[in-house]
Amino acid sequence: MRSIPMKQRSLKISLIITLIVTLMAAYTVHSQEDVKTVEDDAFSERMRPIVPFLHDEHNENALIEECGVCHHVYDDNGQISEDETSEDNQCSECHLPEKSKNKTELIKYYHNRCKNCHQQRNAGPVMCAECHVKK
Ligand code: HEC
Ligand code: HEC
Ligand code: HEC
Ligand code: HEC
Repeated sequence: MRSIPMKQRSLKISLIITLIVTLMAAYTVHSQEDVKTVEDDAFSERMRPIVPFLHDEHNENALIEECGVCHHVYDDNGQISEDETSEDNQCSECHLPEKSKNKTELIKYYHNRCKNCHQQRNAGPVMCAECHVKK
């Protein structure tokens, strides 16, 4: 009777795999509720204080439901995709021209997304020092 040990072995293997997957998930997830500031790695030397951004609280208060408002992926027609998002990428991964040391474009993309919405909705900070808050 060789079938029983075989079965047991594969059960053991699948248990081990489940355990590994669970452990990996527990250690690698950096979830959005942990995000309290915007800190793009592209700005190694900052000229302004870091911008506080209580991710979930902000998006709830601002009634933003679509993650793609910020974490977008554009489809072939140049429209924001409804099926895909890019929260695993920092903005600079797409908005900092390769090899470029000039961060002006990237800063524009940030200000465009954050500040423009505040202006349009007449809510949220629009002055430099309201976002780049000195501690
Ligand atoms: C108003 C803009 C905005 C919206 C809307 C938004 N996010 Fe974010 N999210 C950010 C910013 C900014 C960061 C921080 C990224 C950084 O520091 O580079 C972030 C970080 C994250 C991270 C952490 C990524 C990491 O590895 O650190 C996750 C996960 C995430 N967002 C998921 C979501 C999900 C899911 C939604 C929709 C329910 C969402 N976000 C909506 C702006 C936004
Ligand atoms: C996966 C790549 C990718 C990521 C990550 C990404 N973007 Fe984009 N974004 C694009 C593409 C592609 C476009 C459309 C082409 C363009 O305007 O450059 C775009 C457009 C924009 C626009 C609109 C420009 C306009 O004129 O309407 C803003 C603002 C913007 N992104 C800001 C951000 C911010 C802020 C983040 C980070 C929270 C971010 N993007 C993350 C790829 C990305
Ligand atoms: C689609 C619109 C929208 C976008 C995009 C957006 N905000 Fe806001 N934000 C708001 C609104 C609306 C409020 C005011 C919410 C309220 O009335 O409490 C706000 C409030 C804030 C505040 C005040 C404190 C708080 O958390 O409520 C800060 C700081 C802020 N936003 C930072 C940012 C940053 C940084 C970004 C870009 C990564 C961003 N916002 C993108 C709509 C937006
Ligand atoms: C709505 C919020 C908001 C407002 C208002 C705002 N910024 Fe920013 N700014 C940001 C965010 C978010 C980033 C990207 C943050 C990061 O990763 O450090 C940024 C990045 C920058 C950077 C590049 C990082 C650094 O510190 O060198 C500079 C410079 C900057 N902003 C200057 C300004 C100036 C000057 C003003 C006023 C004219 C201003 N900002 C207004 C949110 C804002």
